[in-house]
Amino acid sequence: MGIFSSVTGRPGPSGFGSASTAEQVTEGVDASNLTAIVTGGASGIGFETARVLALRRAHVIIAARNLEAANEAKQLILKENKTARVDVLKLDLCSIKSVRAFVDSFSALDLPLNLLINNAGVMFCPHQLSEDGIEMQFATNHLGHFLLTNHLLEKMKHTARTTGVEGRIVNLSSIAHIHSYEDGIRFEEINNRSSYSDKRAYGQSKLANILHANELSRRLQGEGVNITVNSVHPGIIMTPLMRHSTLLMKTFKLFTFWMWKNVPQGAATTLYVALDPKLKGLTGKYYVDCNEMKPSSYARDEKLANKLWDFSNKLIDGASVPKAE
Ligand SMILES: NC(=O)c1ccc[n+]([C@@H]2O[C@H](COP(=O)([O-])OP(=O)(O)OC[C@H]3O[C@@H](n4cnc5c(N)ncnc54)[C@H](OP(=O)(O)O)[C@@H]3O)[C@@H](O)[C@H]2O)c1
Repeated sequence: MGIFSSVTGRPGPSGFGSASTAEQVTEGVDASNLTAIVTGGASGIGFETARVLALRRAHVIIAARNLEAANEAKQLILKENKTARVDVLKLDLCSIKSVRAFVDSFSALDLPLNLLINNAGVMFCPHQLSEDGIEMQFATNHLGHFLLTNHLLEKMKHTARTTGVEGRIVNLSSIAHIHSYEDGIRFEEINNRSSYSDKRAYGQSKLANILHANELSRRLQGEGVNITVNSVHPGIIMTPLMRHSTLLMKTFKLFTFWMWKNVPQGAATTLYVALDPKLKGLTGKYYVDCNEMKPSSYARDEKLANKLWDFSNKLIDGASVPKAE
């Protein structure tokens, strides 16, 4: 798969390509035995992911910080699909307290958990610290998902063990992971304001998404757990993600219109990785346009992934965070 295939939509070895839609890549899949959490499922790629998962009869939990938008998303899904199973739960990924509260609320539902789609994200925001004192793009895109995943793992392991059905975790990364800071992850200066670059901080957080998926994948393989963890670049799609760079992105699109996807195409790689039976057992991979691709050398660096794992745990332990009531 190269730029030619991306532009023309020509299918790759998987039989799918950049022009494939989420519905096309899941045609014929019966997900009625699956429960899925989709973070940021109220808009953009996450909404389409939730919609198509529900269409394939999965029980979907939309995890969102804006409950009004999430309930509207749920109603839209139900309008087209009266038998859809969709629930909405509050989750603010840039708050450790909120992530813990979400896990408590999900546990109270006493549902199994087969699929975790770590989709939510922010892009190019001005320098800002989360309520836990951590740079916002890193806190939202990586750290919140890192904590969420760790806290949901026991449930996922239990589900995989008792049902014999493979669990799958999908991290939404980006091609932007290649444009991080010089050392990949700037551990010593994670919150530094004076040298902050909104673009590189986004790249850093998306690099962290791949490193997290790869490190978790290795750990689960070591334990012999029946859960795969992969990351994806969805393509370039005009969504509310661009809210901090609307003019820049609209101008960029004028010159690169041939590279852009619509939202149904943007959700295809996530759905392919989450549901395609041919991907059984495949873990620690990176997918673009529904085909495996090699990410950057930093993204493949096992030492960096291990260091990020320890660093993330220390950040969470060190944050002066009140426990969720
Ligand atoms: N669109 C692209 O071209 C593109 C390219 C590469 C990668 N991606 C990745 O794809 C994923 C989905 O992006 P999208 O394009 O679909 O953007 P989007 O429509 O803005 O969706 C992102 C979702 O994340 C939610 N979110 C943001 N901060 C959150 C927080 N603190 N807690 C909980 N939810 C939060 C947003 O909720 P609010 O509405 O409340 O903000 C929104 O529902 C992101 O991870 C993004 O990095 C997108």
